[in-house]
Amino acid sequence: MSQPAQSQSILLKHPLVGKILTGSRSRSTAATPGLSVYQARAGNYDRFMHFLRYAQTRHMILKDFLPPLPADITVLDVGCGTGICTDVLQDVYPDADIRGLDQSTEMLSLFRERHPHIPAVSGDFNDPDLLGSHCLLKPASYDLILSAGALSEYGDAQAYDLVARLLNERGIFINIGIRKNPIGRLIGAAWGFRPSDPHTIMRICRKAGFSDVSAHQLSWEWFPRTLIDVVIIAQKSGSASFQQTTEQAV
Ligand SMILES: C[S@@+](CC[C@H](N)C(=O)[O-])C[C@H]1O[C@@H](n2cnc3c(N)ncnc32)[C@H](O)[C@@H]1O
Repeated sequence: MSQPAQSQSILLKHPLVGKILTGSRSRSTAATPGLSVYQARAGNYDRFMHFLRYAQTRHMILKDFLPPLPADITVLDVGCGTGICTDVLQDVYPDADIRGLDQSTEMLSLFRERHPHIPAVSGDFNDPDLLGSHCLLKPASYDLILSAGALSEYGDAQAYDLVARLLNERGIFINIGIRKNPIGRLIGAAWGFRPSDPHTIMRICRKAGFSDVSAHQLSWEWFPRTLIDVVIIAQKSGSASFQQTTEQAV
């Protein structure tokens, strides 16, 4: 599931789209689209997501999917960006030990402004040496890992291995990704990724060691996000199963 270099996408070459998305910041020359795109657009990211009602719906959607868990859990937001989903994690798990991981220093600096008390690690989740490279990235140290618009968009198979190994034996992984359909492809063209089929993601999760993996479509209540997002929930053996109320299996 490696993503092709698409930082010079056709959409970005359109002067209006390029201006809205890139703002006045100069574009990075970094090799991976997952880095260069976000380094360049970090300053406009929240404004853009607000305009698309992403932040508001993220709150409501995530609250449906995040399971009830003990108060003192440890949670990692993988590809945390500016912290939009971390806001929800904080709301739902106010006593949890929450951390972020992202490779874009520009996104992380906005994350740190927004969440000055939440530790955030700078790192590439596709880096095979990332596990254990930082005190917040120790094996089996998380109860819950969330990734929204990051792992399934920019991660390769070993990023899923990383997630599985960061989770303890009862850990839960929740991924909100972009659907593989014409809208998803358009979004992918603008943000430098190629959407993956949920069945492919589920297969990779199982290969990474998750035993209970399911894909969920959003309820039509969240239209138009229903057409855009797909949620994968992967649990390691021994995890308590939990109920969601607004989605159906894909
Ligand atoms: C669409 S944003 C999502 C941010 C946040 N989760 C949200 O929902 O607003 C994708 C994020 O993934 C990060 N990212 C992309 N590739 C990455 C990688 N290989 N390692 C770590 N972070 C990565 C980007 O820097 C960016 O902040």
